[in-house]
Amino acid sequence: MLIYLKDVSKRIDGEEILRDVSLSVEKGEFVSVVGASGSGKSSLLYIMGLLDRPTTGEVFFEGVKVNYDDEEHLSRLRNRRIGFIFQFHYLLPEFSALENVMIPMLKRGVSRREAEERAAELLRSMGLGGKEKRKPYQLSGGEQQRVAVARALANDPAVILADEPTGNLDSRNTEVVMEIFERLNEEGRTIVMVTHEQALARRTRRVVEMRDGRVML
Ligand SMILES: Nc1ncnc2c1ncn2[C@@H]1O[C@H](COP(=O)(O)OP(=O)(O)OP(=O)(O)O)[C@@H](O)[C@H]1O
Ligand SMILES: [Mg+2]
Repeated sequence: MLIYLKDVSKRIDGEEILRDVSLSVEKGEFVSVVGASGSGKSSLLYIMGLLDRPTTGEVFFEGVKVNYDDEEHLSRLRNRRIGFIFQFHYLLPEFSALENVMIPMLKRGVSRREAEERAAELLRSMGLGGKEKRKPYQLSGGEQQRVAVARALANDPAVILADEPTGNLDSRNTEVVMEIFERLNEEGRTIVMVTHEQALARRTRRVVEMRDGRVML
């Protein structure tokens, strides 16, 4: 089990956002998470990605119980083992596409040269060869999101967690990003993707449905 949530609940301001969620994600899976707005999809993904902690319950990442008091270990896991993709790309506007992809590697302590080589290779694999030097504003929305996918892959994470990665894209770019995800999964990458689009969810091997903070079985 790559990620295992055991009886996870999350309360904020007296509201129960996640209720007794038990869920595991195996290595190599492509899981989509669907459900109405406010059902807790993003909250679930943030807990899987160690960006947030449960109020009660336990989270195991790669078989090890997550210790939320060890901030150093948490940030190490987030940097090295988890690739996050959001609906808005959150690229750094003052840096080029190449630099945006290099940053997580530099943070890990990889040499500039090695980071540059891998970033260029990742951008090429996203169909962005020749656009490495461009700033985010010089790229289309679909291209920006592909840079974000390249950045998420920078440190060769164990899992890609994507929160409505195509939510801001037109149908053509949605297809491009979805095909990239399918290719990554075929190559063995584990992916959890929140989506509103039934047509996309149907293309994944497993669909997790959320309702009122619960996982429907
Ligand atoms: N930081 C927070 N503080 C207070 N309430 C929050 C917080 N984060 C989420 N919530 C509440 O938790 C519930 C679930 O939110 P969440 O963002 O997980 O839903 P979602 O399924 O991702 O919805 P959407 O499809 O609109 O993105 C909502 O009622 C939301 O208002
Ligand atoms: Mg959400």
